This record gives sequence, structure tokens and C-alpha cells, in this order.
Amino acid sequence: MTAIDAFLVTTPTETAPVPPARVPARITRAPRAHQPEPTHHHTPESVRDEAHDSMSPEQAGRLAAARAQVAARYGVTARRADTVAPQVAAAVAAASDLPRSVLDVQLGHRSVRRFLPGPLPPLVLPTLVAAAQSAPTASDLQLWSVVAVTDQARLARVADLSGGQECVRDAPLLLVWVADVARVRALAERRDTAVHATGYLETTVTAFVDAALAAQNAAVAAESLGLGTVYLDGVRDRPEALGAELRLPRGTAPVVGLLVGRPDPARAGRVTPRLPQAVVLHHETYDTARQLRPLAAYERRMAEFYRAEGLDGGWVGRVLTRLRGHGSLRGRERLRSALAALGLPSW
Ligand SMILES: Cc1cc2nc3c(=O)[nH]c(=O)nc-3n(C[C@H](O)[C@H](O)[C@H](O)COP(=O)(O)O)c2cc1C
Repeated sequence: MTAIDAFLVTTPTETAPVPPARVPARITRAPRAHQPEPTHHHTPESVRDEAHDSMSPEQAGRLAAARAQVAARYGVTARRADTVAPQVAAAVAAASDLPRSVLDVQLGHRSVRRFLPGPLPPLVLPTLVAAAQSAPTASDLQLWSVVAVTDQARLARVADLSGGQECVRDAPLLLVWVADVARVRALAERRDTAVHATGYLETTVTAFVDAALAAQNAAVAAESLGLGTVYLDGVRDRPEALGAELRLPRGTAPVVGLLVGRPDPARAGRVTPRLPQAVVLHHETYDTARQLRPLAAYERRMAEFYRAEGLDGGWVGRVLTRLRGHGSLRGRERLRSALAALGLPSW
């Protein structure tokens, strides 16, 4: 059973926030057949009693520690952890005995473009957002937002606006990461002050970097739960149209999409070999001459890799073809003017 299947078995299916003391039964390691998780609504009090009854001191300790972690992230008391980030403490507690380390998850990454049907457990989204918000953010500006799309009709429209990839239509969840200076502009307006720096390229880049760091934290969190992810840069193909679809306010721009779902095991991708470290890692100063030497062996490995995928050629040819002209950018070559139209002039 994958981590996320365990969550599916053991977490409530209702979308209401998990009441304070509730914790997925994964912590109790309850087998599906013997101890199914109730899916009906409880009053908080009855749930609290049940949860306390069924929790060992170790489980209660884990949940308390997870609540303290969530509380620290949002700057509230532990009692408020479940209010500010519903279900996240339960997910963190449940995840604490997952067998994969962070490095294991990172090194095992592969993009997943085929998902099993069906919605994700309700705790997934708030958990991914908590992971995303735990990423560093330049000057604590937090210049990003995220739009979660699960509606099938909207997913289909987003697919049409972003290159037409089938996996967008099939995914249970699309997260559109958004560079966002609209929020600080609104705050400035309220205080009757100006934030001229939000019009400069530096601030736009800061917002894009912030959004990307947040997205990658969410991606690693999703993969740690056994979910699959793939990024989608097609969200920048037609940013004004996508902005209208998602009702993005002026001062925001889509940065990248992230599809999240349960990977279809029949179509599990392989780990794509990366460049040798000697190519990308420079010691003290950039060494151009040394950089290209180890490429030949990589090229052979990649030609083999692509052949196994039914594709011709090697890595170098693919990269050069992709970047030969602006055709492959599919509209993104006009990003500068699109950003200006979205209220990010990026002077
Ligand atoms: C910013 C970004 C945008 C991407 N956009 C797409 C996309 O639109 N469609 C897609 O199928 N994969 C997309 N990918 C996935 C890459 O193709 C993939 O990461 C790369 O081929 C390496 O494979 P791996 O992720 O399995 O290691 C994107 C990845 C990144 C980082």
C-alpha cells in the first residue's frame, strides 16, 4: 500500500475540517478490513472522545508534536493549529512513520503524467500548501499565491489554454502557482501609500522565485506521500486568457502549474538521468573548458535512455532543437508584454 493509499483508507472523506483531536487511523496502523475509518460527520466532542480512546500515548505525542510544528509555522498556539491549517497536523503525524527520507524522495523523483482516476483525500491540499508556505521567501514578502483547480470542466479549459496536454484533463488536482504583487498593492492602497518597487523586474523575479520555491516544496511533499507530480509551463502560453479563467487580479501572473495525482502504476515513468556533476558543479570559479568534457558519456547514456522510451537521438540534439527558435515557446516569447498587460510591467 502506498502512503497515499494509507491516507485514503484512513482519512475522512468529508471535506469539513478535521476537528481538533482527530488523527488518521494510519497512526494506529489499522488494517482496512478490521477498522474502517468512519465517513459520517461527528460532533467535535464525539470525535475528540473517540480519538483519545483509540490513541496510544505515542500517537497522542506525535499528534501534539505535529500540532506544535503547524502552530509554529502559522504563528499561533497549538490549540489553533487545526483551525489555521485544517488536517495538516494529522497528516504530518501520520506521515512521520513514512519509510522514505527526504533524500530518498528527491533522488527518486520522476515526472508523472498518467494518474489514477478519483479525487485526492481532502487533507492533501492543505498539507501541500503548508509545505509550500514552509519554503523560504525573499524578505518574508510572500509574493505568491496558488490556485487549486479540481473542477473537470475548468481543467479541460486550462488544458486548452496551456498546450493541450491530456494529463491536465485527467489530473485530480492542478495547482497554479502565481506571482502575486496584487496583495501588497492592495495593502498599500489601504494605508494610502505606494509600492513603486512592485513595478520593477527585480520584484517580478522575486515573486517568480518565491512561487517556484513554494511549488517545489509542495511537489516534494506530494511525492513523499506517494503521489505523482508534473510541472506545467504551458500556464504561461496565454497568461492573460488563463488569468481570466482563474480570475487572477491585476498584479498577478501564472508562474508554473503542478499536476498532482495518484500515479498510474501501469505507466510509471523512469528516473531520467541528469548531467554529470562535473558539468554543472564548478569549484570557486566557473570552468567552461572542463565543463563540456564529461558530456560524451552522458550523451551515450541518454541516447540509450531515449531509445528505451521509443525516441530517437540524444540529449544535446533535443536541447538544441527545443531552443533553436521561439516556436517551441508557444506564445511564451511574448511574456514581457503579457506581464505588462497583467500589471507587472517589470521595468
Ligand atoms: C518549470 C517546468 C515546467 C515543465 N513543464 C512541463 C510541461 O508543460 N509538460 C510536461 O509534460 N512536463 C513538464 N515538465 C517536466 C519536465 O519535462 C521534466 O521535469 C524533465 O523532462 C525531466 O524529467 P523528470 O522530471 O522525470 O526527471 C516541466 C518541468 C519544469 C521544471
